[in-house]
Amino acid sequence: MTAVTARAHTNIALVKYWGKADTELMLPQTSSLSLTLDQFYTDTTVSFDDSLTSDDVAINDQRLAPAASVKVRHVLDLVRQQSGETRFAHVASMNHVPTSAGLASSASAFAALAGAASRAAGLNQSRTELSRLARRGSGSATRSIFGGFVKWQAGTDDASSVAVPIQEDVTWPIAMVALVLDPHHKKISSTQGMQSSVTTSPYYPAWKQVVAEDLAAITPAILAQDFTTTGEILEANAMRMHALTLSANPPYSYFNGETLAAIATVQALRASGIACYYTLDAGPNLKVFCQEKDLGAVTTRLASQFSADQVIVAHPGPGITFL
Ligand code: PMV
Repeated sequence: MTAVTARAHTNIALVKYWGKADTELMLPQTSSLSLTLDQFYTDTTVSFDDSLTSDDVAINDQRLAPAASVKVRHVLDLVRQQSGETRFAHVASMNHVPTSAGLASSASAFAALAGAASRAAGLNQSRTELSRLARRGSGSATRSIFGGFVKWQAGTDDASSVAVPIQEDVTWPIAMVALVLDPHHKKISSTQGMQSSVTTSPYYPAWKQVVAEDLAAITPAILAQDFTTTGEILEANAMRMHALTLSANPPYSYFNGETLAAIATVQALRASGIACYYTLDAGPNLKVFCQEKDLGAVTTRLASQFSADQVIVAHPGPGITFL
């Protein structure tokens, strides 16, 4: 019984994934692009054990009921199919996210699970193969196998839907400041939200066009370290994703009462000459993209308007590692 531990970091999408084309294979409607972050990560240990009669899954030392571990067991089943391993597994996962940050992400969790389970089953898979496996747990996990700027190529089938690094070692002095407005779980899961947007928003076809244009424009901007172009694209892309929620039937929103106030603060900072841009995922919390030289001004302003413990600074982070 060999135990393997993998560490994967979470990522923030700059061009969002918002819609599945195949819910079983987890193929997305569009490609997407993210930045892996250093501050938030998951360590997951997997060991296969012939004394088990079912998979035994714990997160932060709390054992999960079978209904809560369906996706984890699905990834383990795929590993068993690929490796010929027949035993059930112990899975122990620890999320290293600052207390109540509300940023615990399925991205780091399923990337770490894919890595640890694959190795514990004796597979010697490449990072591309791990990216493919992580995708089956959570779409955004596809990207967390790699560090730095990463593109998830939508692909057309299981084999072609994988992440590719755009730039793993980031020398660009940039930061992503998380502003935590609500640490609780999202009320509408990303899966439910995406399905509703894909099937009911009249703007969904336009979103696919937006993503294609944004990906084409942001990639050279990142490589050229063009902060303004990168920031303008990521902010508009996030708001256009959220426009899909407002235009769904029934409409919904991930914003809370403070989200618009926080957006106004970022706009005010920008008007005062501090260049910074926000993005939001399936929740009310902002992530503010800024340059290292402006980090002090950005965090001071956010901490004075909200509170210091709601502000967490992250930088570009690494891909999966084995401990
Ligand atoms: O990986 P999922 O199924 O939780 O979806 C993630 C969706 C967003 O975070 C909103 C966008 C993204 O590309 O990460």
